[in-house]
Amino acid sequence: MKRAIRLGVNVDHVATVRQARGVDYPDPLEGALAAERGGAGGITVHLREDRRHIQDDDVLRIRARIATKLNLEMAATETMVAFACKVRPADVCVVPEKREELTTEGGLAVAGRERVLAPLIAKLRDAGINVSLFIEPDEREIDAAARVGATVVELHTGAYANARGDVAVASELAVLRRGAAHAESCGLIVNGGHGLTLANVAPIAALAEMEELNIGHSIVARALFVGMEAATREMLEACRRARETGPAW
Ligand code: PXP
Repeated sequence: MKRAIRLGVNVDHVATVRQARGVDYPDPLEGALAAERGGAGGITVHLREDRRHIQDDDVLRIRARIATKLNLEMAATETMVAFACKVRPADVCVVPEKREELTTEGGLAVAGRERVLAPLIAKLRDAGINVSLFIEPDEREIDAAARVGATVVELHTGAYANARGDVAVASELAVLRRGAAHAESCGLIVNGGHGLTLANVAPIAALAEMEELNIGHSIVARALFVGMEAATREMLEACRRARETGPAW
């Protein structure tokens, strides 16, 4: 029996629809509870500095009400670390953040920034929070993540998701495969995410090292037509099938 994969559902874009009108619906908490009914093993939210979608109060309400675990994505700042230590989510995923970006563009630069990141990570860990770093599947960054005290790395799957053509896709997949194996050999738990859809998730879910995939935009988009619970269930089934069948290479 192969190890099951966990699906973390990111509900940021439920809040995006709400913020577009400045009203109080749809509620990302309702999205989170429906995702749990669909089999989500965790709920992810990104509290951005510009508060463009998720608000502080959303994090508190989701933390209080979900039955699974909360993964809080945030920038590496003293203010965010203080907020996380107050809320105490199960996991924090540290991400890079630029105000002008549409979504998180690249992985966190860890190598060379160990002295800035290590004390922030230590504070989070002292508060009982698992710390994940969202990084490119690059050996140098993975080694730095292990050195700086992270217990988890979330490998950025964006380059794979954006690759077009069989050769480019296979090449990005090979990078992720090597990265996942290297991270596991460093004693790190390996997660993945960004840009994953029903059409491209299978080869990533089939990577045996992957413990959890964090998926948001494509699930929320699909939920417009089938609802959040069904959209979550579909994605989970696609991940499970891929895990059972194994890699296609
Ligand atoms: N993982 C991380 C660290 C992210 O920043 C995001 C986007 O917020 C995701 C996963 C989910 O990406 P997507 O919305 O493209 O599924």
